[in-house]
Amino acid sequence: MYRESVEKPYDFWYKVANENYHWKEKNFSLEEPKSILDYNFDLSKGPIHIEWFKNSLTNICYNALDRHVENGNGDRVAFYYEGNDINDNHSTITYKELLKQVCKFGNVLRKLGVKKGDRVAMYMPMVMELIIAVLACARIGAIHSVVFGGFSAEALASRLIDSHSKIIVTSDYGIRGDKLIALKQAVDEAIDHHCQDTGFTCEKVIVVNRMNSKIVSMDTKPSHSISSPQIHWYEKRDVFYNDLMNDETISEECQVEWVKGEDGLFMLYTSGSTGKPKGLLHTTAGYMIYTSTTFKYVFDYHENDVYWCGADIGWITGHSYVIYGPLICGATSVIFEGIPTYPTPSRYWQIIDKYKVNQFYTAPTLIRTLMKIGDEHVKNGSTRDSLRILGSVGEPINPEAWLWYHNVIGNGKCAIVDTFWQTESGGHLITPIPGCITTKPGSATFPFFGVQPAVLPPTIEPQTPAASEELEGDCEGYLAIKFPWPGIARTIFGDHDRYEKTYFGIVNGYYMTGDGCRRDSDGYIWLTGRVDDVLNVSGHRLGTAELESAFVAHSSVAEAAVVPCPHDIKGHGIYCYVVLKDHVDISEQKKRDELSHALKQWIRHEIGPVATPDFIHFAFKFEKDC
Ligand code: PRX
Repeated sequence: MYRESVEKPYDFWYKVANENYHWKEKNFSLEEPKSILDYNFDLSKGPIHIEWFKNSLTNICYNALDRHVENGNGDRVAFYYEGNDINDNHSTITYKELLKQVCKFGNVLRKLGVKKGDRVAMYMPMVMELIIAVLACARIGAIHSVVFGGFSAEALASRLIDSHSKIIVTSDYGIRGDKLIALKQAVDEAIDHHCQDTGFTCEKVIVVNRMNSKIVSMDTKPSHSISSPQIHWYEKRDVFYNDLMNDETISEECQVEWVKGEDGLFMLYTSGSTGKPKGLLHTTAGYMIYTSTTFKYVFDYHENDVYWCGADIGWITGHSYVIYGPLICGATSVIFEGIPTYPTPSRYWQIIDKYKVNQFYTAPTLIRTLMKIGDEHVKNGSTRDSLRILGSVGEPINPEAWLWYHNVIGNGKCAIVDTFWQTESGGHLITPIPGCITTKPGSATFPFFGVQPAVLPPTIEPQTPAASEELEGDCEGYLAIKFPWPGIARTIFGDHDRYEKTYFGIVNGYYMTGDGCRRDSDGYIWLTGRVDDVLNVSGHRLGTAELESAFVAHSSVAEAAVVPCPHDIKGHGIYCYVVLKDHVDISEQKKRDELSHALKQWIRHEIGPVATPDFIHFAFKFEKDC
């Protein structure tokens, strides 16, 4: 299949698209190859464009829900929802029920004036309402823009402004372990404080009352305690999700907006090598085909299997492998709101036994964290007998963690799929296919169907013209891809020039992943980490420039330089060199400690807890004569 997918990509993807999805208008054929794929991957020949199935009409929500209900599978479980608290808050939602909720919310959005192509932002915990909101947008042709709930008010504001999302769906709080995350408060701060004077106005904030918060007056500081959470309320702007959904005029049927293959589906921000995060735009048909095809083969999903991806929906893994890939394939999944160590480090393994999970997908950071805590938390109280496939994503997995995952979590009998991919790629790029590919601990092995990788020398200069630079055989260099796959992001929202320069402006005819790799003599690919100014902290992507600009926004800081440092658990730690302004006095240890602490808090506030610096190194400005 791989050979066919690269030698005859049009035939390969034609067959996949033709056999597995519902098209309202199927306007693609092999006689007209451009109706399958029309593209230019070479900046020297003109603007970059990638269009899959551009003349055909479909809808990804219809493919994810209606189709299964119409085929008689409406009573199949779509999600087992496991709440944060071990004793409480669990539910099951079938395809039929999910469709009903999505239709209602689609109608809610339409009633609020949301139209095809409009952006709707979500800033939510891992709750069913987030999945419902995402699918409702897709149903009515609106573009969803999910912002990870761990980002700060400021980071949220910059994403709202950039995407012009006039509607935001949020929650009073998120709950993780014994902590509340004040999401609504961050939305208030983003809109009131950071969006002021930018020309951007938010029309509606839809609030899921997850913790049953009480509204308090604006003069009172809201309590964030779990037993009596409180929020502020803006009468003209805020509205409760349940009030909208319980409105009798909201119908349970919602007409599908049939969209073209290349119509926008969602945008998702990710860090690059400049301070401004990039809103990558994914479109409908290619993404639909790619996420579901990768899901089907890489997780070897079979009817009646139970699959669980532990990623947050705020990241691409959650989009592709919590929501779209599994639902399009009609899968039954687990979704978990809480954290792996609450109330004990056995929580994940107990969930696996409870739902008899067959495929489990997580990140190396989590594997390393639980490995360090000790095997007894795995072995006592869980058998994990149901597991068949274990997936890893987000960062290189070191062989030690790989083997622990295999031997301890998987009882030595599961296939490990180390999946390399990116926000930009929509789905897996380099990954084993279980049962087909002999794995080597630490290697993501081989390209997925349709992916044509190349290793380029690390010495290349921008705008290198020819393909002759490709390294052959056993080699080490930059990982590039030389042919479009259906899941690739099509542009950076509002900045196509940046998209072209970042990904295609280095070697003509190649998409640059930004990662280094080694290819061994058996052809296996080993990812070696980012080669640009991007850090990978616990699988979260952060630009060094993003951190540096947050540092210099602090009143004591003149200059900053951020670099990664090796970290046993997180992959990369964040090491920051900070040059202070002349007036700042750090002559005593106490003052240095206080400022260091204050700067760490500042970065948490500016970007979010994922960006908390590990080390602050006060440095001195380099003067030529000194
Ligand atoms: O450096 C690679 C690393 O994560 C980057 C992509 O980050 P993001 O867009 O946030 O998406 C993460 C989830 C897909 C890549 O450029 N990365 C991701 N998966 C792996 C990996 N590095 C090595 N091995 C992986 N399996």
